[in-house]
Amino acid sequence: MDKDIQKILVSEEELDTIVRRVAAQIDQDYAKREGGRLILLGILKGSVVFMGDLMKRIRTPVEIEFMRVSSYGSGTVSSGDIRIILDVSIKEIQNCDILIVEDIIDSGRTLSYLVDYFKLKGARSVRTVTLLDKPARREVEFTPDYVGKQIPDEFVVGYGLDYDEKYRALPYVGVLDPKAYQGNS
Ligand code: IMP
Ligand code: MG
Repeated sequence: MDKDIQKILVSEEELDTIVRRVAAQIDQDYAKREGGRLILLGILKGSVVFMGDLMKRIRTPVEIEFMRVSSYGSGTVSSGDIRIILDVSIKEIQNCDILIVEDIIDSGRTLSYLVDYFKLKGARSVRTVTLLDKPARREVEFTPDYVGKQIPDEFVVGYGLDYDEKYRALPYVGVLDPKAYQGNS
């Protein structure tokens, strides 16, 4: 285990189980729809590992796109305002079914903003899947369509999630030792 990790919250084995379960739910729901393109829209950078694993398990034909937004500074506290740093072009998503793939929901601001954004841009449908959800931290009302796991209000890293761009490559999700960010955020 990495020296800055206090405890493992979601192990590699559990992540695999979660991904298979969520992929099966997605397949079941999207099988009912008529025609159209399904686009998995990953929110960079945190969702990349989840996205890579999830797309392998989904049997429904999918396309992928990525977008980059920022709501955090460099610390562990959300700044609250969403900035689009890398967008997708309208023609990629018009009349498509969009499934936004996110690493974690905290305040709910990022996903509630993006769902409205894609509806305005002309998507046929917009749903959301998140690996992790911290419902205790919600500041705006938001319920994702698919959730990997609900977790308590602790700052976690690994499996794509970072603190200050570090720890993304850990194969599990772990609670970061507060010593690793104290005096920094
Ligand atoms: P929201 O808009 O407050 O829901 O923020 C969601 C974003 O905050 C996620 O995409 C993450 O980038 C970041 N975030 C929230 N909680 C954590 C955490 O515990 N570890 C790492 N990043 C987090
Ligand atoms: Mg992040």
